[in-house]
Amino acid sequence: MMSLWTIVALVAVTGVTGRPNVTDSPDTGDMLTHPNSVPEYAEEETEILGQDQIEDVVAEDVMATGELNPNHYPAQRAAKVVQHYLNTRYGSPYRLFGLHRVHSGHAEDVADSGRKYQLEITAKERISNTTEKCSAEVLFPRGERQGSAQVQASCDELLKVNIAAQEEDLYQRYKNSQNLVSAQYLPDSHGRIEPEMKPFWHLGIVASSFVMLNESTENTLYNMAQVANITQLATENDQLKFDSHVLLHDMVSQEIIHWKLLFTWSPAEGVKMLQMEQLPHCHECDKPQNTE
Ligand SMILES: *[C@@H]1O[C@H](CO)[C@@H](O)[C@H](O)[C@H]1NC(C)=O
Ligand SMILES: *[C@@H]1O[C@H](CO)[C@@H](O)[C@H](O)[C@H]1NC(C)=O
Ligand SMILES: *[C@@H]1O[C@H](CO)[C@@H](O)[C@H](O)[C@H]1NC(C)=O
Ligand SMILES: *[C@@H]1O[C@H](CO)[C@@H](O)[C@H](O)[C@H]1NC(C)=O
Repeated sequence: MMSLWTIVALVAVTGVTGRPNVTDSPDTGDMLTHPNSVPEYAEEETEILGQDQIEDVVAEDVMATGELNPNHYPAQRAAKVVQHYLNTRYGSPYRLFGLHRVHSGHAEDVADSGRKYQLEITAKERISNTTEKCSAEVLFPRGERQGSAQVQASCDELLKVNIAAQEEDLYQRYKNSQNLVSAQYLPDSHGRIEPEMKPFWHLGIVASSFVMLNESTENTLYNMAQVANITQLATENDQLKFDSHVLLHDMVSQEIIHWKLLFTWSPAEGVKMLQMEQLPHCHECDKPQNTE
């Protein structure tokens, strides 16, 4: 089972980078050899970014303009930002967005403000497994207007799946719980997650989208690798509160980056990010603390 997941990850990673041997890279080696490494997401990666779909991915220095090949990185990178945007706006323990396919993309420079991508994509709600074709616009600011990508997207059909009862149930169960929930390594090295931990894994993914939305540029392609841990804190102002440590994978640089996130969730307010902090890159951090 372990080997299956590892192979899936290797296929995904080599498929995207074209590198013959990912274990040569300390960063991916880090991820792939970590005893509790990843990657449920790699499964989707092969679907979206299979070897046969993406080419010429690394050496695209010049930003493509005009009509884009929907299977190449410029369009895929911009489209991935839409996924993060949808998660930050509408994500929940029971609603999780994915990018299913890019149908078309168009990029243009916008005087003084950046580059604008117009995209036709199929977005996916992963829990109900529903898809919808939607239009989106992503502006990567430039020059004076530094900052995160600005996104507009309408994928309203995906919001119609009724998750209110499940949300309320989870909320009531953990709102006044004596034992604050805590979990590590979602998913574990076998790609497994305890069923009752899945909502918290989803929350970790949604929270990670806040980072990925904020950090994405035309030169990045972030994926969630793993929720290293998530710990519930005491409920404040009717919001469930969580502290989480997540590992994100930039498919372009092949780096695994670590973030510490503090966020809240409630059915009424959704996920709100309180604090996000990138942790220094550190191989020692991944190792058990008590081996010396
Ligand atoms: C790939 O890595 C393995 C060890 O991880 C090594 O034995 C093998 O020679 C490498 N292959 C290439 C083509 O570098
Ligand atoms: C999701 O839906 C697609 C198409 O409707 C189907 O092919 C696929 O098997 C479904 N996946 C799951 C996990 O149900
Ligand atoms: C998002 O990124 C910008 C830099 O691009 C940073 O100034 C800002 O603080 C970040 N937002 C959060 C919530 O950390
Ligand atoms: C969460 O995981 C990180 C990285 O593995 C670790 O440094 C941190 O101590 C963990 N926190 C908890 C509460 O387990």
